Amino acid sequence: MIEVISKRAGSFLPALAALLWAAVLLAGSGENTTGARQPRVLPPRGVLGARVTFNKQVVRLLQDNCQKCHHEGDIAPFPLVSYKDAYEHRIQIVTQTSGRIMPPWHVDSACAAYEDDPTLTDEQIRTFSKWVEAGAPEGDPADLPDTLTFSSNWKLGEPDRVLTMAEPMTPDFSKGDIYRCFVLPTGLTEDRFVSSVEIAPGSRAMVHHILLFVDTTTAAEQLDAKDPGPGYTCFGGPGFTAVYNLGGWVPGNAPRPLPDGIGMPLPANSRIVMQVHYSARSGVVEPDRTTLALHFSKTPVKKRLLSTPVINTKFTIPPGASAYEVKAAIPFIPFAAHLLQITPHMHLLGKSMQVTATTLSGQQICLVDVPDWDFHWQGTYTYKTPVPIPLLTRVDLSAFYDNSADNPDNPNSPPRAVSWGENTTDEMCIAFLGFTLDDENLTGAAGQAATTLSTFPPFWEEGWRELARALKPTP
Ligand code: HEC
Repeated sequence: MIEVISKRAGSFLPALAALLWAAVLLAGSGENTTGARQPRVLPPRGVLGARVTFNKQVVRLLQDNCQKCHHEGDIAPFPLVSYKDAYEHRIQIVTQTSGRIMPPWHVDSACAAYEDDPTLTDEQIRTFSKWVEAGAPEGDPADLPDTLTFSSNWKLGEPDRVLTMAEPMTPDFSKGDIYRCFVLPTGLTEDRFVSSVEIAPGSRAMVHHILLFVDTTTAAEQLDAKDPGPGYTCFGGPGFTAVYNLGGWVPGNAPRPLPDGIGMPLPANSRIVMQVHYSARSGVVEPDRTTLALHFSKTPVKKRLLSTPVINTKFTIPPGASAYEVKAAIPFIPFAAHLLQITPHMHLLGKSMQVTATTLSGQQICLVDVPDWDFHWQGTYTYKTPVPIPLLTRVDLSAFYDNSADNPDNPNSPPRAVSWGENTTDEMCIAFLGFTLDDENLTGAAGQAATTLSTFPPFWEEGWRELARALKPTP
């Protein structure tokens, strides 16, 4: 057969190549008659291994990793529930998972082990591509597992207190996404400890992320009074210095009670300020009334979950700079502590952020590594095991910003010098650390230590400096 083809070689080169290839396939062996080595012929991938079908493997991967967002009425732009849904999006599923864009996860899991880490294994990603290579077959109906149901009930059971927006908010997306702060009076007549806050977005299609702050002054109410409509416009932060940061929520974050014995203090008469990012992406415009469920600590609280920012407020990012570094540090932490959570925060020029702890003995601990910051996917990351922070540990933050015209998210055109501020066009450089103090024991005699600590100014730059001065041994 090969000889016959050779005689016609001059006129049909492309056809010849195809036929030669077919001949090699038929011959099966990698050798031709002249003994020259030919490419080894491999069977199409996926054929010899277990046959991948939607009903058997793919739907299970989608249920476990994708459907909590990709179901009707939730944040993702389309459901990935039925065979038809998956088939229609099969190519995108492969490109998004193999590019590790979906499921969304914006910190490097090699830095630390976090709860809710949705990172797929290489094997899981290969299963999607094997399925598509095999023609994306549906498979045997007998293999299909039960359809998941998504309940809108509180996942942590009956809450102790439910706070909701005073009136619904219908965002006007004509100028793009909306960032709005809503003041929710707690109505508490005594100090309480909160174990968890569960958030039920009114419109899952529009609510993209939420940050919670505690206000014990009238600052938030004054901002609200000045701004017509429900709530007030706010971007990076709540527009005032919050006494406490109650964490945040992004889609995919499961509500998680704090470990027994740890609580978040919520003072009497305080207000929770809820910052909501409404995203225009889904195309849905509807009234939103987002609700918070507070679960109070059920066991005696021994330690407070405290929050301190690693922060730099004094920087200017020159226009045009595509990788401008801003650093921040806590030169030493004057207590032994355990770190439970970390919340990196920048605005639209943010590019990457790394936070590292260095103990006195020189041990380096990676706390968070955000290799590719995305303002639209920010959240609070909870360590699987709280990270021990020995006395006098140093914490360093290094963030990079892209203030060039090539940054599609750059809010300034042409780029201009950007400094710290609350507006969309300003920047921030913070990582909030959520920690407990090893020496704190609110239930025992050592409760005194905690009282002293709470009288220190907030752990902002000035606070740390003051603390350093106070702790300096007198000669
Ligand atoms: C935490 C919620 C969430 C999870 C989990 C999630 N997605 Fe998505 N997905 C989204 C959102 C939101 C978008 C729209 C793009 C955006 O906002 O980044 C999206 C977009 C997509 C797109 C379209 C991307 C494009 O623009 O072309 C595909 C495909 C996709 N997701 C597949 C998956 C797959 C497969 C999984 C599971 C392995 C998954 N997603 C898990 C929320 C999620």
